[in-house]
Amino acid sequence: MGNKLVIGSSGQIGVELIEQLSKIHGPNNVIASDIKPRLKNKIKGVEYLTLDVLDKPKLLEVIKKYKIKEVYLLAALLSAVAEKNIQFAWDLNMQGLFNVLDLAKEKYINKIFWPSSIAVFGPTSPKLNTPQTTILEPTTVYGISKMAGERWCEYYFLKFGVDVRSLRYPGIISYKSPPGGGTTDYAVEIFHAAVNKGNYKCFIEKDITLPMIYMDDAIRATIELMNIDRKDLTINSSYNLSGMSFAPNEIANELKKHYPNFKMTYEKDFRNDIAVTWPSVIDDSLARKDWNWNHEYDLRKTTIEMLKGIS
Ligand code: SER
Repeated sequence: MGNKLVIGSSGQIGVELIEQLSKIHGPNNVIASDIKPRLKNKIKGVEYLTLDVLDKPKLLEVIKKYKIKEVYLLAALLSAVAEKNIQFAWDLNMQGLFNVLDLAKEKYINKIFWPSSIAVFGPTSPKLNTPQTTILEPTTVYGISKMAGERWCEYYFLKFGVDVRSLRYPGIISYKSPPGGGTTDYAVEIFHAAVNKGNYKCFIEKDITLPMIYMDDAIRATIELMNIDRKDLTINSSYNLSGMSFAPNEIANELKKHYPNFKMTYEKDFRNDIAVTWPSVIDDSLARKDWNWNHEYDLRKTTIEMLKGIS
């Protein structure tokens, strides 16, 4: 089967994906890598490498040395930081993907997971029950890179038979490792603030509803997608995926059930301008049909897990 390499393993998703992959396949069959020199939450038996996905010769060396057959490419700049670093975001998000796609085209690896995002949608996409196939006119650097990446994934599959699989992740909620500069980060920060300070100043307006998912669901969806027969996939680019949708005032109300004195104030910044261009509720019925995808965590259950995890 070959080993699995996670690129960007110290990020919000990477830390938990490594944990799950090593549980399923054994720590010796999973290699963690990140541009950062040290892996947070190091897992016993999982080899850790410092690796820059833009360094293609080094990437190839690692793939050969560790007999890697499957790559999870998580290294990217998220929506908020990408706006502050346009050229680097484009270079990292696109060239990183090309480097991995090309190694699959050249038959060094068999399978790739690459995350896309709800950021592929823009102000002209339908906001409610946003369909899989619809207008994609993103207005953020991150969204443009993800939309282009999706097109390249499909292109590499159709032209070169590259088995690359992808999900349009919504905002991901988790406590083990913080998110790195996204628009939906408020929905993680708020839990830490509730536990540690009892108040939170939210940078998104109170009634802006966004699609979200709890980390356990996101990881399970990823692993399920990677395990199904390629012939059962009806989408060759990236699947809509969803768990729940809520606005800042709804999460604040849910938190008040646990912390009655919790106080939320609002001071929007540039991330609110990003949030208003994204959908509120995503239609992920194709994932539900193609591999029986079903989320387990709603806002109530997510809140309970987050508070338990943080305290
Ligand atoms: N959570 C991401 C962000 O806010 C969306 O993919 O950038």
